Amino acid sequence: MSNFIENAKWRYATKKFDTTKKVSASDLSTLKEAIRLSASSFGLQLYKVIIVENTELRAKLQPASWGQTQIVDASHLIVFANQTTVTDADVDSYIKNVSETRNVPVEALAGYGDYMKGAVGGMPEDVKSIWTAKQTYIALSNLLNAAAELKIDVTPMEGFVPAQYNEILGLDKLNLNASLVAAVGYRHEEDATQRGAKVRKSNEELFITL
Ligand SMILES: Cc1cc2nc3c(=O)[nH]c(=O)nc-3n(C[C@H](O)[C@H](O)[C@H](O)COP(=O)(O)O)c2cc1C
Repeated sequence: MSNFIENAKWRYATKKFDTTKKVSASDLSTLKEAIRLSASSFGLQLYKVIIVENTELRAKLQPASWGQTQIVDASHLIVFANQTTVTDADVDSYIKNVSETRNVPVEALAGYGDYMKGAVGGMPEDVKSIWTAKQTYIALSNLLNAAAELKIDVTPMEGFVPAQYNEILGLDKLNLNASLVAAVGYRHEEDATQRGAKVRKSNEELFITL
């Protein structure tokens, strides 16, 4: 656990990336696995994770991201996009996956599927979208922690205009909405932010023990 805390202290929201350093294919694959293994409500994983490799697209995304330089300078740009709709088909697809992965007949899972469909179906449409967006934050958190273990820097970013991202990346057509961005790479030596002490609430301010 000491490594986890050390890594959490090492990481910081990088403001300036070293454009000469690239994350290796093998490290990228580890980061993707950390994202893939993230917990989600009911296990449904109602989002997509887009790795934007195209430099022209990244240049277009920068003005849609308050001009933040990490968008174009980081080794990799990852966009988390939550589903704007959730249907019975999403639950059916999950149930099929459980059935195949665990070798359980679909019929034996029908009750569980109906329960999930009832829970999701009872949500107003706008609540569904908020709910799916929340799940992406868990995936982002896994990415941050896994990257820190590999000494890879990540800037978690909400400083962008989702509607513009949706248009530039064609997410609207896929019933997706850009909820979060992560710029992934290596800190520039000149990034002064890395030398600032961590600013966090004290235990007394943060925790309530009842
Ligand atoms: C959801 C979320 C959105 C953020 N958006 C941005 C952003 O758009 N640009 C940026 O430079 N930092 C962004 N940050 C970084 C935070 O400002 C930073 O995590 C916080 O100040 C704590 O500092 P640390 O992460 O360096 O320890 C974001 C962080 C989170 C968790």
